[in-house]
Amino acid sequence: MYDAGKVTIGLLIFLLLVTVPFWYNVAIGKADYAPQLEKPANAEQCIRDTEYMTAYHMNLLNEWRDDVVRNNDRFEVATDGQMREKSLSNTCLSCHTSKEKFCDQCHDYLGVEPYCWDCHVIPEELGQ
Ligand code: HEC
Ligand code: HEC
Ligand code: HEC
Repeated sequence: MYDAGKVTIGLLIFLLLVTVPFWYNVAIGKADYAPQLEKPANAEQCIRDTEYMTAYHMNLLNEWRDDVVRNNDRFEVATDGQMREKSLSNTCLSCHTSKEKFCDQCHDYLGVEPYCWDCHVIPEELGQ
């Protein structure tokens, strides 16, 4: 009823496609590469639980953007009692001082490319 040859070729192509990221990493010599996250020097804690930040930091950034852009609501008091600006460049990157050694480590690894930096300033670039 079906063509076993075609099914096998189909399966092989499928296997090849789903393992492309793996082969790509082998090809560029990064098969055992894992993100190396630079720890902030000036703080022990993030502004939310670490687990929350790892999984949901993009949601927090979206909330902040909506608060600022829609309601001009620019500050928050975090769980540590500190008042902070709801700002991607001024707050997140004041602790995570190197976008390259922190944010990009994960994003490059996972192939995520947030477009935020088209407009938002990466602090190191200010002096250039
Ligand atoms: C007051 C300093 C500080 C600020 C401000 C800050 N962080 Fe953090 N962040 C940390 C520290 C310290 C850790 C590591 C905590 C740990 O190891 O438990 C961390 C952890 C994280 C993690 C988890 C990393 C991992 O290992 O999975 C993410 C993601 C993150 N931060 C993103 C952000 C973003 C996005 C912002 C802005 C919305 C932000 N941080 C603001 C200090 C900060
Ligand atoms: C522990 C790994 C990790 C770190 C560190 C990290 N991210 Fe992410 N980031 C992710 C993952 C995973 C996604 C979401 C992928 C998805 O859901 O599509 C993501 C998505 C995002 C998005 C949404 C992108 C989109 O196109 O939807 C933004 C914005 C973002 N991260 C900002 C940051 C910033 C700013 C930092 C550094 C302060 C940072 N991230 C650090 C893992 C990380
Ligand atoms: C087309 C340009 C543009 C892009 C792209 C963009 N933003 Fe913004 N964003 C703005 C402008 C303009 C404001 C308002 C600035 C103000 O009033 O301080 C803003 C404000 C914000 C704020 C609050 C103020 C601050 O200093 O951070 C956050 C948080 C934010 N954006 C997050 C993001 C994230 C996360 C992304 C990527 C997923 C992103 N933005 C992409 C233009 C942009």
